[in-house]
Amino acid sequence: MNILIIGTGYVGTSTALVFAELGHKVIGLDTDIRKIDELNRGKLHFYEKGLDHLFYKHLEKGNVQFTTDTEQAIKKSKVIFICVGTPNNDDGSANLQFVEQVARNIGHFINNYKVIVIKSTVPVGVSEKVREWIAESKKNKVRFDVVSNPEFLREGSALWDAMHPDRIVIGSRSEKATLIVSKLYQSLNALIIVTTPQAAELIKYASNAFLATKISFINEMAKLCDKLDINILQIAEGMGMDHRIGPYFLEAGIGYGGSCFPKDLNALLDTAKRKGVPLSLLEKVVDINQTQPLYVIEKLKNKLRLLKKKRICVLGLSFKPETDDTRESRAFPIIRELINQGAEVAVHDPIVQLSDDMFQSSVKQFETEQQATQKVDAVIICTNWSQYIRVDWKEILINMSGNVLLDGRNMLNAQEMKEIGFDYEGVGYK
Ligand code: UGA
Repeated sequence: MNILIIGTGYVGTSTALVFAELGHKVIGLDTDIRKIDELNRGKLHFYEKGLDHLFYKHLEKGNVQFTTDTEQAIKKSKVIFICVGTPNNDDGSANLQFVEQVARNIGHFINNYKVIVIKSTVPVGVSEKVREWIAESKKNKVRFDVVSNPEFLREGSALWDAMHPDRIVIGSRSEKATLIVSKLYQSLNALIIVTTPQAAELIKYASNAFLATKISFINEMAKLCDKLDINILQIAEGMGMDHRIGPYFLEAGIGYGGSCFPKDLNALLDTAKRKGVPLSLLEKVVDINQTQPLYVIEKLKNKLRLLKKKRICVLGLSFKPETDDTRESRAFPIIRELINQGAEVAVHDPIVQLSDDMFQSSVKQFETEQQATQKVDAVIICTNWSQYIRVDWKEILINMSGNVLLDGRNMLNAQEMKEIGFDYEGVGYK
């Protein structure tokens, strides 16, 4: 099928390549000329494990093309996916200006029946709005359907998630459109649930909100574990064995980051507020997540007392491993607080490069973990990059001034680290 993906950001580009891999002809459209030029020259503008392979393969075979020509791209395609960003406005609500612009463009150029699929995470009711925006700018009698088809892939494992989805949600009021969208995914043999567009929109937010709730829940338990001298890993394991709870998203640490959970929780809270339904549980989930990074600073102060002039190394800047995305990374509030308290901060990340203007040069970035930890009083792990497990921690300790190791992701073996000589502490785990 001929598919158009509007928006070549992270979700759009991943979706385009996955559909190319599933045997479709895909056009990626964006207004950002530089981005499109780079894509056409074979340069992927973000890092995602395994995606570059699909990118080169399908670009070379001509299964995927990138363009800024809105009119031609719309006219040529039968199914149009809207994958543009929906960032938060200052009040937490979702900013729909890009979605509206795209919908109006579709209305302007639509030349025959098309299915418009919304993959961007949009508040309940936006599918209906998109239908209205297209209808308003349409000059002919051509028919079209709007379908909501939310995305559940995770950064860092986007390819695996897209190829092995737990479910595909199709929110549609038209049998014809449902059939067309289902067919796109046919070769995946995945479970498909068909709902109303509004229900599909809410399934996406409710799923992210529930996963975020699991994380904040286990983080609260971890704080209690610290006081009771109980290992949170055993609690998570014991809870997770109950199939009604499940073992996933029960990893305690410095909290959740990324471009999705923080943004989507704000947008859901905003929707609920507008409807006069306070979601007090989710408000608490957000609160817990905001204070969680500072919990590690408290731990650090308990060990070092004053942080002024202390040298602290932060390992990991991305919001999770296997991505170069630093949006809402929990490393940043930690770094900011360290600077506020007068500490000297050294950082390392396997792929993220801090820009010069970030933190007004008060942070020094190093190429290797060994360099970043030289002569530091303490190390804080913020991202669970697997390479931090393989680091020669004995050698690191020899070159440090102090011996404090705070594991914000509970990724190292506490016993081993203590035997090496570290004053090691995780979150609810020591
Ligand atoms: C999340 C959802 O998991 C996806 O299903 C969804 O499609 C996506 O948002 C989206 O809305 O686009 P993502 O933000 O890529 O995916 O990353 P996650 O793997 O969910 O991790 C989010 C944050 O939670 C990370 O900072 C991670 O370190 C943290 N986390 C995750 C924990 O602190 N504990 C856990 O047990 C799991």
